[in-house]
Amino acid sequence: MRNDEIERAAEVLRRGGLVAVPTETVYGLAANAEDPAAVARIFAAKGRPSSHPLIVHLGGAQYLDDWVESVPPAARLLAERFWPGPLTLVLRRSRRVPLEVTGGLETVAVRVPNHPVTLELLAAFGGGVAAPSANRFGSVSPTTADHVRTELGDAVDCVLDGGACQVGLESTIVDVTGDVPRVLRPGGVTREDLEEVLGYPVEVPSKSTVRVPGQHPSHYAPRARVVLVEAEKVVAEAEQAQDLGHRVGALVPPSSAGVPVRAHAVVQVPESMDDYARSLFKLLREFDERGCDLVIAYLPDEQGLGLAIANRLRRAAGPRQ
Ligand code: TXA
Ligand code: MG
Repeated sequence: MRNDEIERAAEVLRRGGLVAVPTETVYGLAANAEDPAAVARIFAAKGRPSSHPLIVHLGGAQYLDDWVESVPPAARLLAERFWPGPLTLVLRRSRRVPLEVTGGLETVAVRVPNHPVTLELLAAFGGGVAAPSANRFGSVSPTTADHVRTELGDAVDCVLDGGACQVGLESTIVDVTGDVPRVLRPGGVTREDLEEVLGYPVEVPSKSTVRVPGQHPSHYAPRARVVLVEAEKVVAEAEQAQDLGHRVGALVPPSSAGVPVRAHAVVQVPESMDDYARSLFKLLREFDERGCDLVIAYLPDEQGLGLAIANRLRRAAGPRQ
């Protein structure tokens, strides 16, 4: 990325504007975290209720102490090991963090993203930026600059194109304000990664079986309705729905590789969980683009990145408003 592009984006931030930024997880919609009017523009652009707290993105772990009241040992350890990277820590806020950013909470979510373009921007800007994922509220997070332009258009003053996101799912959020670190959202840093560094178990959100209704309000959702079935049943259920007149998108497990499927759009799930995570949101968007009204998918094994992938699929399948 050219230097003048970075400088121009930093100037947009200084003047209270919005910059879409690439990160290793998903694209973010950034504003000066210390400018409440700029932060308000984020909520307006996303159509997101202003009670939903935002993540503050910093240019390096060395700035953490300026933004939080204190840093417990577990938080320090995790920050040192995983930053820059797909980990967000929830800590008690310092007075530097406006309540507009935290949705009125006394805690703040902070991370150091691992993308050269955004690290350069943060260095040029010199402060912290509040940034949610750069999508309309409730829809799938963008993993390319084109996704951002399609979804937010003129609501953004500047889009920095840093290519396709490497991780493809949002950061892992860990609340480190209590006695035991608690995973609030599984993501790019796995539970196993966290426990290896800490040396003890962390709390994770309870898993639920495939069909518990009402547990997972819809979020990260494509327009098409998403239905989760057992992996062995994806092909049969997809064909049945297609025969009933749906335009079905099928996410077919590797175990059914090569089986012909009678459906509108058929996508073979990558064998590697890294590849699956990287492409999941893009695949969901493509089902919409291809006119599917129903997506049939299955939950992967909830180990490693599988936990985060399953979490996003459950939310995509959750009840709609
Ligand atoms: O990977 C990511 O985290 C991306 C990139 C852009 O960094 N950002 C992202 O932001 O996913 P967003 O706004 O879409 O999701 C932030 C999540 C929300 O679910 C919010 O509830 C939670 O972080 N959060 C923020 N502050 C919090 C706090 N003080 N306590 C608990 N949860 C918090
Ligand atoms: Mg989001």
